[in-house]
Amino acid sequence: MNVCIVGTGYVGLVSAACFAEMGNNIFCVDVNPKVVETLEAGKVHIYEPGLEDLVKRNTAQGRLNFTTSLEEGMADCQVIFITVGTPSLPDGRCDLKYVDAVAREIGQKMTGPKIVVDKSTVPVGTADRVRGIINEELEKRGESIPFDVVSNPEFLKEGDAVNDFMKPDRVVVGTENAESAAVLQQLYGPFARSREKLIVMGVRSAEMTKYAANCMLATKISFINEVANICERVGANVTEVRAGIGSDSRIGYSFIYPGVGYGGSCFPKDVKALIDTAKDYGYEARLIQSVDSVNNAQKHVLADKIKEYFEPQGGVKGRTLALWGIAFKANTDDIREASATEIIKDLTALGMKVRAYDPVANERAREEIGDIEGLEIIDDQNAVLEDADALAVVTDWNQFRDPDFDNIKRQLKAPIVFDGRNLYQPERMGEAGFAYFSIGRQP
Ligand code: NAD
Ligand code: UGA
Repeated sequence: MNVCIVGTGYVGLVSAACFAEMGNNIFCVDVNPKVVETLEAGKVHIYEPGLEDLVKRNTAQGRLNFTTSLEEGMADCQVIFITVGTPSLPDGRCDLKYVDAVAREIGQKMTGPKIVVDKSTVPVGTADRVRGIINEELEKRGESIPFDVVSNPEFLKEGDAVNDFMKPDRVVVGTENAESAAVLQQLYGPFARSREKLIVMGVRSAEMTKYAANCMLATKISFINEVANICERVGANVTEVRAGIGSDSRIGYSFIYPGVGYGGSCFPKDVKALIDTAKDYGYEARLIQSVDSVNNAQKHVLADKIKEYFEPQGGVKGRTLALWGIAFKANTDDIREASATEIIKDLTALGMKVRAYDPVANERAREEIGDIEGLEIIDDQNAVLEDADALAVVTDWNQFRDPDFDNIKRQLKAPIVFDGRNLYQPERMGEAGFAYFSIGRQP
């Protein structure tokens, strides 16, 4: 099948490469000429394990094509996926300007029947909005070309995106049109091998499913973070409590790892967007509002522990913190809404110097937060430790899980570790002579 994918970020490029891998011809469109140049040169502009190989192979075999021109990209394609960003506006609402721009251009340039697929995460009602924009443009041209708008939300997670796309738990297709459903069923056939995996439903249900899924996962995280905060105060250990509740199959172990709060380009914005959608329809989403506010507070918990520790010794001003992990989670270079940024801001605002290291996000961090006064980003995991007053571990990269503790002790001024991801054992850290603070466990 010939397929056009508009927006080659984490979702667009992964979808494009995986569809191409199954033998489809994919035309990728991105407004950013630098992105298109990089991809045409066989390189990938984002860090996503396994993606570069897929892109290289399918580009070399002619199934992946890149262009900045939507008109050119969609010309021979029956299906057009919209996979552009849908960031938050300052008031938390979903900013649809990129989706609108693509819809408008499709309406202006389409010459034959199209199935337009909303894959970006968009508020309920957006398929109708996209349909309206395309119709408006067609009317201006005095054309009446048949088209449909389908919702096909994406559930991949960064760091494991190729695997998630290749072996999805489910594929949700929102359409009332049997022909559109059949086309998407064909396209997704090689991925959703069992029939039950492809769930066809109403457009609004599909749009809502995406927000419900992300808000449910965010709720699990805020719940365990709240439990962790209570554990600390009542003398319990959240790791033991997690094992105790996760063993109940109705609860499960996943997404109940306590930490420094959820970050990334999705949970924070999608939680806020659903609160706003509900408000627009006259409903106050009290539980989801709490999920958001628990998370906003959790992003400051580690910095608060650091401030509290140094308080009796004259505070953090003039001290240096070594910080491991800037990305919002392991296996990605994405630092959007990363908790590390909040921790760095909290501490540098008080005059603490922060020397930060991330295995892959350093470059992106320099571009996006490099101007924070008091922050230095260093490309060496060991060098950040030198003569620092303490180490804070913020991202759960594997390479931080079993470090050389003797070396850490030698490098730091004093053996103090603040662990925002519970990567280490409190008993072992105590035995090794560290002052050790983690989330939801006793020091
Ligand atoms: P991204 O920011 O990585 O990529 C978006 C791309 O779209 C950019 O390369 C940008 O240049 C391009 N773009 C913007 N306007 C364009 C236009 N008019 N024409 C062509 N290209 C244009 O975004 P992302 O992380 O891939 O997210 C895309 C959507 O998918 C969002 O709605 C997001 O919520 C959703 N989503 C993301 C993930 C994830 O893990 N990142 C997972 C599921 C769903
Ligand atoms: C998340 C969802 O997992 C995907 O299904 C969804 O498609 C995507 O959002 C999206 O809509 O964009 P992602 O943001 O890439 O994917 O990463 P997650 O692995 O879900 O982690 C999100 C945040 O929660 C990270 O900051 C992570 O560290 C944190 N987290 C996750 C916890 O603090 N505890 C956990 O138990 C799990």
